[in-house]
Amino acid sequence: MPWVVRDAIDDINRAVGRRWQELDRLLPGPADLPAGCAAPLVASGANGRPAGLGVCRHQFVPADTLNQTWGTASQFSLTLRLREPDTSAALDELFAQWHDHLAGLPEAGAADSAAMVTWPARDVSGVNALLRCGMQALTVIAVRPAEPGGPTGPAAADGQEESAGLVIREAGPGDLDAVTEFEMGVIRFDAQFGAAIIRPATEALVRAETQAALARRPAWAWLAERDGQPVGLVHVQPPEHSGWIAGMTRPGVTVYLQTMFVRPGVRGSGVGAGLVRHVHGVLDARGVQTTLLHYALMNPLSAPFWNRMGYRPLWTGWEVRPAASLR
Ligand SMILES: CC(C)(COP(=O)(O)OP(=O)(O)OC[C@H]1O[C@@H](n2cnc3c(N)ncnc32)[C@H](O)[C@@H]1OP(=O)(O)O)[C@@H](O)C(=O)NCCC(=O)NCCS
Repeated sequence: MPWVVRDAIDDINRAVGRRWQELDRLLPGPADLPAGCAAPLVASGANGRPAGLGVCRHQFVPADTLNQTWGTASQFSLTLRLREPDTSAALDELFAQWHDHLAGLPEAGAADSAAMVTWPARDVSGVNALLRCGMQALTVIAVRPAEPGGPTGPAAADGQEESAGLVIREAGPGDLDAVTEFEMGVIRFDAQFGAAIIRPATEALVRAETQAALARRPAWAWLAERDGQPVGLVHVQPPEHSGWIAGMTRPGVTVYLQTMFVRPGVRGSGVGAGLVRHVHGVLDARGVQTTLLHYALMNPLSAPFWNRMGYRPLWTGWEVRPAASLR
C-alpha cells in the first residue's frame, strides 16, 4: 500500500476513533481498516485530506456453514471511516464509487447476494445517505454493559422465577432435541424479516453445532421449564467463541447471546424476562463485561423486549439485495 494511503488511513482512523467515542462510549476505539478487494475508495475533503474512506470486501459464504443461514451466499460489504460529524456528502461520494465498482461485477447481480454496511446506530448523520442508495436497515447489534453494581448472582432472580412457576437449568447433551427445536424456532421467526435465510443444510448444521455446544462444560445454554416441559432457551457464546464480534464494542470480556426463544403458546407470561434475568446473573458472576446480540429490526417482539432487559442499539446492519441493485 503506498505510504500516502497508509498515512491517510492512520490519520482518519484516529479521527474516527475520537468521533465514535463522543457518539457512543460502547463503540470500539480506533480500529484499522481491513484489507479490501482493491485500494480504498476515497471521498474528497478539505486541504487535500480525505473526508472518508471505504473498503469493499467480497465474501462467498460456503453452503455448508451456518453463516449462509444468517445472510446471503455472496456478500459485498463496505467498511466506512468518515472524518466529519456530518457524514452525508462524503457518504454520497463513496456510495457513487461503490455503485460503479459493483456494477462491473457479474456476481453482484446474483439473486442470492447483498451489498452490506454496518453503521454505528447513533451516527444518525448517515441514515439519509444510506436510504438514498437504496439500502434498508435489516438488523441491529444491541449491547448490554454488565450491571454497574457488579455481579448480582443468579440467586437474585430466583424468587421471581419461582413466582412465574419456572425452573431454569443449564442445558446438557440430553437436551439436544429441545435445544435444536428452539434454535430452529428463532431462525424460522427471523426468516420472516429477512434476517435469516433457511437453506437445505440449515437444520443439520444447527443440530451439529448444538450437539458440540451442549457437550462443553459449562454449556452456556439455559432452558426454562414449566410443568417439567422446556418452554424457553437462552444460548450464549462464551468469550472464547465470541471473538468474531467482540471487536464491535469496547475492550473487555464480551459474549454474544446467539439465541433467545420462548414457545409461542407461553409468550407474554414472563418466561423470557425470567430466563434472561437468570442468565444475566450468571454472566455478571462469570465476569462478563459486555453482552452483544443481533435482532431483526422488523421483529415486533424483540426490540421492546431487549430494551426492557437492558439492551440498546450499538450498530445497524444495512443491506440491499441483490448487491448490484445499489443505486
Ligand atoms: C422475544 C421473546 C423471547 C420474549 O419472551 P416472552 O416470554 O414472551 O417475554 P415476556 O413474557 O417476559 O415479555 C414479553 C412482553 O410482551 C408482552 N406480551 C403480551 N402478549 C404477548 C404475546 N402474545 N406474545 C409476546 N409478548 C406478549 C408481555 O406482556 C411482555 O410485556 P411486559 O413486560 O410489558 O409485560 C418471545 O416473544 C419469542 O420467543 N419471540 C420469538 C423469537 C424471538 O423474537 N426471539 C428473539 C430474537 S432476537
